[in-house]
Amino acid sequence: MKKNRIRKFFNDFSNTYNQKAFYGSRGLNYLNHIEIDFIKEATKDLKFSNLLEIGFGAGRNLLLFKDRNISLYGVDISEKMLQEAKKNLKNEKLNLKPHNAEEGLPSKDKLFDLVLCIRVLKYMKKWPFVISEISRTLKKSGYAIIEIPNLFSIHLLGLPWANYFLFFIPGFIKQLKKNNLEIIKIQKGAVFPFFIYKIINYKLLLKIIASVDRGLNKILPVGLISRNYIFLVKKISK
Ligand SMILES: C[S@@+](CC[C@H](N)C(=O)[O-])C[C@H]1O[C@@H](n2cnc3c(N)ncnc32)[C@H](O)[C@@H]1O
Repeated sequence: MKKNRIRKFFNDFSNTYNQKAFYGSRGLNYLNHIEIDFIKEATKDLKFSNLLEIGFGAGRNLLLFKDRNISLYGVDISEKMLQEAKKNLKNEKLNLKPHNAEEGLPSKDKLFDLVLCIRVLKYMKKWPFVISEISRTLKKSGYAIIEIPNLFSIHLLGLPWANYFLFFIPGFIKQLKKNNLEIIKIQKGAVFPFFIYKIINYKLLLKIIASVDRGLNKILPVGLISRNYIFLVKKISK
């Protein structure tokens, strides 16, 4: 999808985004928690001062860090999402900019202790460049948390209608290594089509679906079946 169309898509979506994407049903909130629980767990013991989120949306992830006395930086292509995030995050150490990350990150080298890039790389054709920008702007031993949708998953069925693209996981891992980003942890996501989670509101049914997700993810190798993957990576060398 062209940049202007992506900007318009998220501008139009901005005031209902958090509700529709994360809290609209028990199933959506389950997907939301796979991501935010991973971020919380991965960062709970880290001491850091500067955090950047690429494509921060309505601020769901930045909110997790609001009370930790951290300078929060962010870029997002949608001005309306930016307004929404500012409403949700009342933090004086906030530095959010409207910016297309595919043009590079507006930051000096080695500034950030943590970079987040969740549900967003899939809109960027120049994603290998964005990965190199993440590496450039991370401090040595800094961390990044990056989420991507998986090519070999149920996503394939929805591809003709999707406004984003899917990742070949081994190719993505190669790109991380090329940019001195060492994988510390991988979280596999859910397995079933998105609409299933969207409509599930019954606790018991969700429990069953969640246990099938966990079971399949345990037995299948990385790169197969899970709708998405979340990587915790650490910048090594330089
Ligand atoms: C699906 S939302 C995810 C928001 C947030 N990361 C989260 O997990 O809640 C994707 C966000 O990425 C932004 N985005 C898409 N392409 C972008 C680009 N090239 N540069 C910066 N932001 C972009 C969109 O405007 C939108 O706010």
